[in-house]
Amino acid sequence: MPTQRRILVTSALPYANGPLHLGHMLEQVQTDIWVRFQKSRGNSCLYVCADDAHGTAIMLAAQNENLTAEEYVNSIWRQHKQDSADFSIDFSVFHTTHSAENRKWSRRIYKRLKSNNDIISRKITQAYDPKEKLFLADRFIKGTCPKCKAEDQYGDNCEVCGATYNPADLINPISTISGETPIEKDSEHFFFRLKNYQTQLEKWIKSGTLQSQVANKLGEWIEMGLQDWDISRDAPYFGFEIPGTEDKFFYVWLDAPIGYIASFEHYCKQSELNFGEYWNEENQTELYHFIGKDIVNFHGLFWPAMLKSSGLRLPTGIFAHGFLTVNGAKMSKSRGTFIKASTYLKYLDSDYLRYYFAAKLNGSVDDIDLNLEDFIQRVNSDLVGKVVNIASRCSGFIEKTFENRLSKECGEETLIKDFICASENIAKLYEAREFNKAIRSVMDLADRANQYINDKKPWVLAKNTNELDEVHSICSVGINLFRILMIYLKPVLPKMSIEAETFLNCSLEWTNLENFLIDHDLNKFEPLMTRIDPKVVKMMIEESKVDDAPDRQSKESDNSIAIEDFSKIDIRIGEIVAAEQIENADKLLRLRINLGDLGERQILSAIRPHYSPEDLVGRLTLVIANLKPRKMRFGISEGMLLMTGDESQLYLLSPDSGARAGMPVN
Ligand code: 2FM
Ligand code: ZN
Repeated sequence: MPTQRRILVTSALPYANGPLHLGHMLEQVQTDIWVRFQKSRGNSCLYVCADDAHGTAIMLAAQNENLTAEEYVNSIWRQHKQDSADFSIDFSVFHTTHSAENRKWSRRIYKRLKSNNDIISRKITQAYDPKEKLFLADRFIKGTCPKCKAEDQYGDNCEVCGATYNPADLINPISTISGETPIEKDSEHFFFRLKNYQTQLEKWIKSGTLQSQVANKLGEWIEMGLQDWDISRDAPYFGFEIPGTEDKFFYVWLDAPIGYIASFEHYCKQSELNFGEYWNEENQTELYHFIGKDIVNFHGLFWPAMLKSSGLRLPTGIFAHGFLTVNGAKMSKSRGTFIKASTYLKYLDSDYLRYYFAAKLNGSVDDIDLNLEDFIQRVNSDLVGKVVNIASRCSGFIEKTFENRLSKECGEETLIKDFICASENIAKLYEAREFNKAIRSVMDLADRANQYINDKKPWVLAKNTNELDEVHSICSVGINLFRILMIYLKPVLPKMSIEAETFLNCSLEWTNLENFLIDHDLNKFEPLMTRIDPKVVKMMIEESKVDDAPDRQSKESDNSIAIEDFSKIDIRIGEIVAAEQIENADKLLRLRINLGDLGERQILSAIRPHYSPEDLVGRLTLVIANLKPRKMRFGISEGMLLMTGDESQLYLLSPDSGARAGMPVN
C-alpha cells in the first residue's frame, strides 16, 4: 500500500463583484477533478477556495447597489457558493478574504516583510478624481487612444489598436466614476522589494516545479529586472488598513493569496488538522495552486517571495491553464456566449460540461474552446451512446431474465484484465492533468466493451433457452466493464456516479477496482444520463444575450474596409538592428529598424514584457512603414511592428526565409 499523500489544493479566488461564469467553472472543474482523483486513489486532498472580496471595483459595485461593501460581498459569496456546489465542486472550505483570519494573516505577513527590510515607502504621482476624492486605477480612466484616436479607451491600453500607454497619455481623459477630468496627485505608497528575492526566485523557477511555458515567462520577467511592487492603496478602499497608517490599505493582490492560508486556517478550526504541517514546512505535505495563465506573475513571483520573507513554505506546484473561448472566440455578451454558471445550470446538467472540459483539458496553458456543437455531439455520443449504453444494453436481460442478479462467475478474463491494466496509465494521466488523454483511454475501453456486446449478440442468444447461461455471463461481464469505466470517470462525473452506484448497488472506488461484482444483486436500471437537446443549448445562448451592451467583437463585424483602404498601408519587411530598454517604461523597447531602401527608423514598441532585447536583434519582422511619426513620452516612434496575441503574450510576425529588409508586403 503506497503511503498516503497529504495534499492541499487551491483554485484562484473569484472576485466578489459579479456572478461566476463558465470561465470560472473551467478552473474549478479542472481543480475539482484533480482533487476527486487524488481522493479516489486514497490520498488526503483538501480543496480550499474563497471569494476575493477587496478592492475598488467591489467598493464601487456595492455603492451602485446601495449596499455596504460587507452586505454586497456577503450576497455574492452566497451566490458563488451555490453555483460551485451545483457544479459539484467539492470544496473543503469556501471562505472569503474579508475575514478575521485573513486580516490577522495579512498583518502578520506584512510585519514579517517589514522586519526583513522588504518594505520601502515613496511618494508617487497618480491620476485622481477630484469629485469622488479617489485615486484612479488605469481601468477607471477612459479617453481617446493616443495612437489610433479610438474613443472610449481605458487608461492602460487600447482595445482597438492594442497600444499600451500611461493614463497621462490619453487624449481628453475622464474618470469613469464621476465623468470629471482626473488631476495628478502625489501620495505615499508602500512597496515590496521583490529584488531582495531575485536569487531565490531564480532558483525556484528553475527547480522544475512549474510548467515550462510558465517558467520561461517568469524567467524573462526576472531577467528584465524585478521592480518594486506597490502593495498599498489610499482610502477610500475596501480592504484591510495597513498597521501604523490611518488612510492606507493593503492592495487587494496582497491579501488575496494570503486568503489561501487564512481560509485553510478557518477550515482547521473545524477539523483535526495541524495547520503548521501544511504551511510551515515543505516536506510533510504538498501544496498546489490552480490558476489562469493571466495571474502567473502574482503566483510565481510575488507570492513565493512573500512566503519566503515570512518564513512559510513554497508551493509544490503552480498549475496554470489557458482561457476559455466559446465557439472559437472570446466569450461575448452580444453573441450570448458569456454564459453565467447559473444560466447554464438552468438548462443543462453540470456533468455534461464537466465531461466536455475534461475531454479538452491538458497540462498546458493552451486555451480551451467550448465548441457548442462539438459539446452536444461529444456528450451524446461518448457518455450516452457509449458508456451508458453498455449498462442499458445489459441491464434489461439481467433484470428480466435473471432477477437482477449477476452471474456466479465472471468470464472474459483477458478483456477484464485489459480494463484493469489500463488503470495505472489513466491514473498517471489524471495526475499530470492530461485529462483529455485519460478520457480518450476510457472511451477506447468503452468502445471495446460495446464491441464485445455487439460480437456476442446476447439479444440473439436470448431467443434460445439453452443459451441463457451464456446471455447471463455476457451481460454480467458487460456490467462489470461498465463498473470499471465508471470508476475511471467518477472524478469527472460525480452526479452520474451516484446514480451508477445506486444501480450497481456498490460504491465505485478506484482502490477496489478488482473487486468484481459476482453473484451480486443490481438495483433497477434508470437512465443515467439523457441526450442533450440542441434546442436547449440554443435557449441558453438566447438567455445569455445582452443587447444593450454590444461588445467590441460585434462592432468589429461591421468594420470592413475597401481594398483601396488596405492599399494605403505600406507594410514592409523590417530588420531589427538594435533593441534597448527605456528607463521607467515598463512595457516599451526602443528599436532601430532597417527598412532597406527606406532607411532606418526608430520604433517604440510595447513588447518589453514579451521579448528580451537580445532575442530581437537580427530578426526580420513586419512593419507599417507609412504611419505618421508619433511623439510619445519617451521619444518619437516612426512606424509600428505587426504582432499577434493579446496583452498576456504578444508574438512578432516573421516572414519566411528569403525575405529581405525593405521588401513590401502585399
Ligand atoms: O484574477 C482574479 O480573479 C483574482 N481574484 C484571483 C485571486 S487568486 C488569489 F491570489 F487569491
Ligand atoms: Zn488605439
